[in-house]
Amino acid sequence: MDRIAVVTGAAGGMGQAISRRLHQDGLTVVGIDIRWGADDDRLSDIMTCMTADLTDQGAVASLFETINEIHGRIDVLVNNAGTCMMSDFPTIPEDEFRQQMAINFDSCFHCCQAAIPFMMKRQSGDDTVRKIINISSNGAYNFDVFDPPHYRASKAAMDALTKDLARRYATDRISVNSIAPAMTETPLFNVVSEEVLAKAISAMPHGTAMQPSQIAAWVGFLAGDGGDVCSGNVIILNQGRDVR
Ligand SMILES: NC(=O)c1ccc[n+]([C@@H]2O[C@H](COP(=O)([O-])OP(=O)(O)OC[C@H]3O[C@@H](n4cnc5c(N)ncnc54)[C@H](O)[C@@H]3O)[C@@H](O)[C@H]2O)c1
Repeated sequence: MDRIAVVTGAAGGMGQAISRRLHQDGLTVVGIDIRWGADDDRLSDIMTCMTADLTDQGAVASLFETINEIHGRIDVLVNNAGTCMMSDFPTIPEDEFRQQMAINFDSCFHCCQAAIPFMMKRQSGDDTVRKIINISSNGAYNFDVFDPPHYRASKAAMDALTKDLARRYATDRISVNSIAPAMTETPLFNVVSEEVLAKAISAMPHGTAMQPSQIAAWVGFLAGDGGDVCSGNVIILNQGRDVR
């Protein structure tokens, strides 16, 4: 049986690593991003690349219709698309606030809404567990690091959705979890100054940022058999930084 995984933000640092991992694990991967890089056609070896703005709910709905038409099923959804906007709290412009929530939270909400009806449609005898894996952030839990409040709030909202959907769809065999990484070396590092970045990395217990492949390994685990019995959890990945 061919298992189908949809990965959002698949052109980015974490998204590429997650797509590669799921491909290596034998899944057929459909990657979605708002933009692909000039040399991203090399990624077609590991995934089918589709383009959409995931803040557009209508576009999300028709995208998932298309994916289901082509592949006939959706087994795994990884909500990874996101960004971190850095204005200081008193001066966060309204459109930045809306955009931050739309990219990080609304996209996840609408992808779940669009994917779950297809995850629920099963042929008789198919009792495999479907998986939703939301890429949250340590920023929703650690208030010592630099993350701005609208970023934290967008990820906290995502994690509340994780728990709601986990409970709501447990008996339908859909498991829903969040993975909340700390500093992981991707192009998103460019949103902060070198000084802020160096300070945040030096606070990591290993003295280094984490690698996207390390986060992808956890996504692979949840997408596999081990993830069948895990739902409603926020899995913190930070080298043990915040253990008190
Ligand atoms: N890098 C880190 O240290 C870190 C830490 C915690 C959480 N995260 C989370 O990991 C996820 C992946 O981030 P990354 O570090 O790989 O950054 P990245 O910038 O490399 O990748 C993010 C991807 O999301 C895509 N995207 C943004 N808006 C979109 C939209 N409207 N529609 C479709 N795609 C859109 C971007 O084009 C980009 O390819 C994000 O949700 C981020 O919040 C990252």
